[in-house]
Amino acid sequence: MQKYDELQIAIDTARKAGSILLQHYGTELDIKTKENNTPVSNADHAANDFIIKNLTAHFPYPILSEESVDDKKRLHMEKVWVVDPLDGTKDFIEKTGEFTVAIGLVENNQPILGVVYRPTTQELFYAKKEGGSFREVEGKPQKLSVTTTGSVSDAKFVISKLDSKHTGYMDRIGAVNRMRVGSAAYKICKVAQGEYDAYFVIKSRMSEWDDCAAGLILAEAGGVLSDIFGNSLLYNQDNTSRTRGTIASNKNLYTNLLQKIDPIAKEEYSSL
Ligand code: IPD
Ligand code: CA
Ligand code: CA
Repeated sequence: MQKYDELQIAIDTARKAGSILLQHYGTELDIKTKENNTPVSNADHAANDFIIKNLTAHFPYPILSEESVDDKKRLHMEKVWVVDPLDGTKDFIEKTGEFTVAIGLVENNQPILGVVYRPTTQELFYAKKEGGSFREVEGKPQKLSVTTTGSVSDAKFVISKLDSKHTGYMDRIGAVNRMRVGSAAYKICKVAQGEYDAYFVIKSRMSEWDDCAAGLILAEAGGVLSDIFGNSLLYNQDNTSRTRGTIASNKNLYTNLLQKIDPIAKEEYSSL
């Protein structure tokens, strides 16, 4: 018998980490630039320290976190937590309110539970494999399902801050309805919720911790997550970076989108 409920502990941990982030939100942050040229703040570290401490207190599983040293011992373990203590650090710094805590649990390289929490709206997204996915606000869980839009020109796309190249690609495939939202995990959850039809990045800076929890939430809502060539994504890998882009979509749009993206993907990755 398992002593603690994994989903409940993951939810509690994400909520408390979210409160820690809010304590730092709007204060003067200590911001550093990491080797990959992305910012990290004392808020990222404070949330991370709490998550590591709390998950370790309850479970013997190793933790892959964006803000912890990866000793790779996890590679030999069946179950591994995959954590982004603050997804959307730039939005956190710019105070847009669009940032999340993401906690996934992986078993044999696939997510089996996922929790994404946005502290500024207290929106909680969660899923358990084969148990459906839910969005809970003010204690009311709502079961999630993706949209059915199949046409790229009709679809609503949730996007990151785009460079001109990606904007050009979106124009080229006729993906004209676009809305910018922060946090990759949150964007994927918003596709799961049916607020948008799809999200894709041809060349992303995403890593396992960005799409682990949210990817399961999307799959359990009937959506699909893959790289932009249509390959499914694996977790607890040696290389944690998503090196071939990311697409998160409702099922009806997915194949049409892949087909339209295919020539662009081939151009972008022709040198590989
Ligand atoms: C980033 C955010 C951003 C996405 C990037 C991610 P971070 O994560 O989710 O929205 O466009 O690809 O790396 O660095 O804020 O945890
Ligand atoms: Ca992230
Ligand atoms: Ca992060």
